[in-house]
Amino acid sequence: MQALRMGGNSNVWQLRVDTWNSITELARQLSDATLAPDRRVERETELARLIDVVAPLESYWADPGPHQMAELQKFVIAGNYELVINAAEPIARSLVGDQRTPHRHRPTFEVLMVGDIGSEEEEALAEDLRQLRRPEDPFSYELVFVPSFADAIIAVAVNEHLQACVIRPGFRLRSDIELQQIDHVIPTLDLKPIEEMSTIQAAEALAQRITDVRPELDLYLVGHTAIETMTGGADHSFRRVFLRQDSFELHLSILRNVTDRYQTPFFTALREYSRQPTGVFHALPISRGKSIVNSPWASDMADFYGLNIFLAETSATSGGLDSLLDPVGPLKTAQDLAARAFGAQRTYFVTNGTSTANKIVAQSIITPGDIVLVDRNCHKSHHYALMLAGAETNYLDAYPLNQYSIYGAVPLETIKQQLLAYRRTGRLDQVKMLALTNCTFDGIVYDVERVMEECLAIKPDLVFLWDEAWFAFARFHPLYRRRTAMAVTRRLRQRYRDPDYQQRYGAQAAALSDADDQTWLHTRLLPDPNKVRLRVYATQSTHKTLTALRQGSMIHVFDELFGRRNEEAFREAYMTHTSTSPNYQILASMDVGRRQVELEGFELVSRQLEMATAFREAVQDHSTLSRHFRILTANDLIPAEYRRAEPEGSSNEDMTELQHAFEHDEFVLDPSRITLDIGLTGVDGDTFKHAYLMDRYGIQVNKTSRNTVLFMTNIGTTRSSVAYLLEVLIKLAQELDDEVTRMGPLDRRAHDSRVLALTDQPPPLPNFSAFHPRFRGDPDQNTPEGNLRDAFFLAYNEEVSEYLTGAEAQARLDEGRDVVSATFVIPYPPGFPILVPGQIISRDILEFMQALDTREIHGYLTGLGYRVFTEEALA
Ligand SMILES: Cc1ncc(COP(=O)(O)O)c(C=O)c1O
Repeated sequence: MQALRMGGNSNVWQLRVDTWNSITELARQLSDATLAPDRRVERETELARLIDVVAPLESYWADPGPHQMAELQKFVIAGNYELVINAAEPIARSLVGDQRTPHRHRPTFEVLMVGDIGSEEEEALAEDLRQLRRPEDPFSYELVFVPSFADAIIAVAVNEHLQACVIRPGFRLRSDIELQQIDHVIPTLDLKPIEEMSTIQAAEALAQRITDVRPELDLYLVGHTAIETMTGGADHSFRRVFLRQDSFELHLSILRNVTDRYQTPFFTALREYSRQPTGVFHALPISRGKSIVNSPWASDMADFYGLNIFLAETSATSGGLDSLLDPVGPLKTAQDLAARAFGAQRTYFVTNGTSTANKIVAQSIITPGDIVLVDRNCHKSHHYALMLAGAETNYLDAYPLNQYSIYGAVPLETIKQQLLAYRRTGRLDQVKMLALTNCTFDGIVYDVERVMEECLAIKPDLVFLWDEAWFAFARFHPLYRRRTAMAVTRRLRQRYRDPDYQQRYGAQAAALSDADDQTWLHTRLLPDPNKVRLRVYATQSTHKTLTALRQGSMIHVFDELFGRRNEEAFREAYMTHTSTSPNYQILASMDVGRRQVELEGFELVSRQLEMATAFREAVQDHSTLSRHFRILTANDLIPAEYRRAEPEGSSNEDMTELQHAFEHDEFVLDPSRITLDIGLTGVDGDTFKHAYLMDRYGIQVNKTSRNTVLFMTNIGTTRSSVAYLLEVLIKLAQELDDEVTRMGPLDRRAHDSRVLALTDQPPPLPNFSAFHPRFRGDPDQNTPEGNLRDAFFLAYNEEVSEYLTGAEAQARLDEGRDVVSATFVIPYPPGFPILVPGQIISRDILEFMQALDTREIHGYLTGLGYRVFTEEALA
């Protein structure tokens, strides 16, 4: 069966929006009695065509639904255009509204009914379920009927309001609907294998397909036939199986299971606690606002925040609350629900960001002397964590993008080379963990599955720490999900239990038995299913991409040895780094954030992608903008050798191409991030960020490079914020045009040389040089790892270090002497250490630092320069 091509729902949304807007506009023109007859005929034909486009498409949504569509068609035939406007306009508006209707009282959703039952039975069933509604129900829902396997797959791929799906075996396989306009997003389904299945097996296959696309949906099976023949065991699971149509039970189950996702145990407990009368004879005078509300000097704080936040400020761990350090009540349940939502075995909330989450994971896994492979460009928390844990750190180099002064990601070949070197030198046992950032700040996404498989083939119990600080949202859209740590780990676990895999592995093992390292390096390796131990950790800054207060992060664990081996170490590490006074508002916000993504994550991420696509297209199509700015594509940010799937020159922006790239390429570019090349403006990234975007227009961006600015969309990005950004860029482009026009010859020359400096090749980005032999782990120096902790603490003794300016350091290098950093040196941007304690300072690094026009460099003192070890200390 071919893979389901997914990820195009946003295009469908755009098609709906455009079509309903055009229908409204045409009806408005037709309602004008003075319209010339030839124009009238033209408009009528176009209106009929648009209705033909949208009617079949709308069969996948309950709203407007078949009745309203039939009415609308009647109005069109009768030429009653006022009624057409009245019907079409609200549909168009509800689709585009930035403020989607807030469901303050009773959220509504849709339920997909898959079955070949005919319209009479559909109507009867819908009526049955309608009769069961009660005013006290927590939610209401509408039904969407589809008769076939193919329609069901399309519906779950495009209808973001679905929360549940009821499958009746015996459905048809193919769709009667022709949707030429969205051909490119329709699943490519090979239905042949399903034709040969029993009806129950086909229902199971459908359930599996739906789970692949939307794992959060509740699935029900309503069977008339022998349900005992179900094979089970797959990754999908029916919430409930009904032997016959029992509308009452079905109705209750649908509501109960959505309620299950809707629950927020900790947020609810905190709200309830805040309503209880309490007297505080303990810490936290601000709780209940006591220390501020009557204070003439501090009451404005209560005015600003409102009282609720202080009513919810407490240090209590009882009275319905719970302790983060030993959760047994609502916090435990909230974490368990998060584990379910993110596909983990366990999830832990962290209230000091992923900076702390990374330290917890590292400490729980590493004992001093263990070798850790890590991307040199990873967030500084990893470097500090490895230093604290006493790891032997092997820094991996990412591929550089010198033109933009951006680092990419670490090629798999680099990682395999290192692992094979350890195997060759008999030190593979010492290798404990691989830590990589997925996706990188700039949006480079790894092929997580391939990295894990090939590494596990060399070292079957390697632990993976995937820093998904920027990737929590990825779980909730099928395009991204396949490249997240937890989804891949589940897939691998299933794969290694499959007898077919065992056979494939056996064949490869035989073929590789005498092979040399070069052959291993260039073979797509398969791990030994009998030896492999999946030990995977993902850390996510929930607050960066989903709903959570700042510092709200999660650690997701999928570790087959966790209970047996690592749980205690993990608990100790968690205790080491977690405050005994964790912030309850952060914890409650993560609970709500989890609820939100379980119920509308798919919709939110789909919209986010839509916003990013719209922005990208608008910049490319605008003549003034495209004269000054260029959006970097995968072709710019990922070298061709890592993009086997994509023909050179294509943009990687089209959704189907993206889908293909996400399935096959070593690296892909996260389409929700937009890197703008601003080199042609003659303004550097840092100035553009501060002086142009922030100071003039209040637009906040985080990351810039010499000649680029990164714009990130997120689930809160609205059409109006995108429109504002475009407006600002257009204004800036026009101002730049005006400035250039007004320039005299001297200014013009200066401008041109600034442009040249920003568009010319800068000094190459330096690789990690090397640890000084004094700190190297391998006495024979076959492998490059070094001990950060030794160097870091050696530098506590002031006598062993001195300061050298860049020129002085250069002079020492010219004399053939080693210069070794005693500290971390971290320029912002790029925000990762260009030097770590114990690292040899190379010419490349000095040159790079000299060319760096960054205002913030931690660990480098202007005037004094680099703190380096004295030669005596290194002797
Ligand atoms: C890759 C990466 N990991 C970890 C962190 C730290 O996350 P937090 O800000 O949640 O502490 C960041 C912060 O920018 C990051 O970029």
